Amino acid sequence: MSGTDRLDTLMARGTAFLGSRYAIMAGAMTWVSERHLVSAISNAGGFGVIACGAMPPEMLAGEIAATQALTDKPFGVNLITLHPQMMDLIQVCAEAKVSHVVLAGGLPSGAAIEAIKSAGMKLMCFAPALALAKKLVRSGVDALVIEGSEAGGHIGPVSTSVLAQEILPALAHEVPVFVAGGIGRGSAIAAYLEMGAAGVQLGTRFVCATESVAHPNFKRAFIRAAARDAIASVQLDPRLPVIPVRALKNAGTEAFTAKQREIMGELDAGKVELAEAQLQIEHYWAGALRRAVVDGDVETGSLMAGQSVGMVTKEEPAADIIAELVADAADALDGRGARAA
Ligand SMILES: Cc1cc2nc3c(=O)[nH]c(=O)nc-3n(C[C@H](O)[C@H](O)[C@H](O)COP(=O)(O)O)c2cc1C
Repeated sequence: MSGTDRLDTLMARGTAFLGSRYAIMAGAMTWVSERHLVSAISNAGGFGVIACGAMPPEMLAGEIAATQALTDKPFGVNLITLHPQMMDLIQVCAEAKVSHVVLAGGLPSGAAIEAIKSAGMKLMCFAPALALAKKLVRSGVDALVIEGSEAGGHIGPVSTSVLAQEILPALAHEVPVFVAGGIGRGSAIAAYLEMGAAGVQLGTRFVCATESVAHPNFKRAFIRAAARDAIASVQLDPRLPVIPVRALKNAGTEAFTAKQREIMGELDAGKVELAEAQLQIEHYWAGALRRAVVDGDVETGSLMAGQSVGMVTKEEPAADIIAELVADAADALDGRGARAA
């Protein structure tokens, strides 16, 4: 069997679930994954996902309609479970006949799961650990995304390779599992498929697609950066919890460390209440991703990026990125077949 045929076979379950040519999802990225990138990914045979982020329902409805005008291929919508209008957003997706909803940012409520499933939409959820993955499958989730700490954006503590080893053997026979985090080349896609993944999800590699609306400064920062520049946010004091986010280091990340030190000092001196201090930390990065992606402020904005950023070397059409990933995966499988023979 050729590498290409082997790739098609390994992806068959994922492509059947997604309805796309390849089982390669472009993970939702707030401010980046809007109509242009999402439709370009889906038109190229991948599976684009709109990032709803903090959008109100009517804005999401507009974004879905605009995406549908640009592609007749399937795509998904990513909703953050903490959104205060979650049920209205689900209603918007159902009315627009969205085929797949991806829930991120914590365990979804039973009501949200029920509303998505009863509208006939396929439900995907992020599973940060095996126990939670099992719980999600029991509650009727149709497919899982397992995302390791190499990924860009909000991250868990465990690496992709370990999550894959723990979760794929236990659950890949029950539901399709898509592996995310740190995937930059097709050879890694081939490896996770061989381990039992139904497909993969990449974010960082798609930020510099020609169709991505990310600011040229944001794209330039990605093209210049190496893997070691994409660091997880650091928490200095257990009294002041910091949500782990992986982003390129810049003046903003350094100022954040200084800010934590300042607030720790104020806490020690009794100048500020604990709740107020925690709120200051929580709000520090508010609006920072928008500043970087939309306004191009790469100094103080949040440059969310995964460790695969070192493999982003130029701006190129989404179709070229997907074609290269697919060719590389097929090559890798060809090579493995030859070695095994
Ligand atoms: C700039 C940026 C923004 C992101 N925003 C979101 C988001 O809004 N919702 C979400 O579920 N994941 C978000 N992610 C994670 C991606 O969907 C994807 O899972 C991740 O990038 C995959 O890992 P990789 O970056 O190593 O390819 C974001 C990632 C990046 C780089």
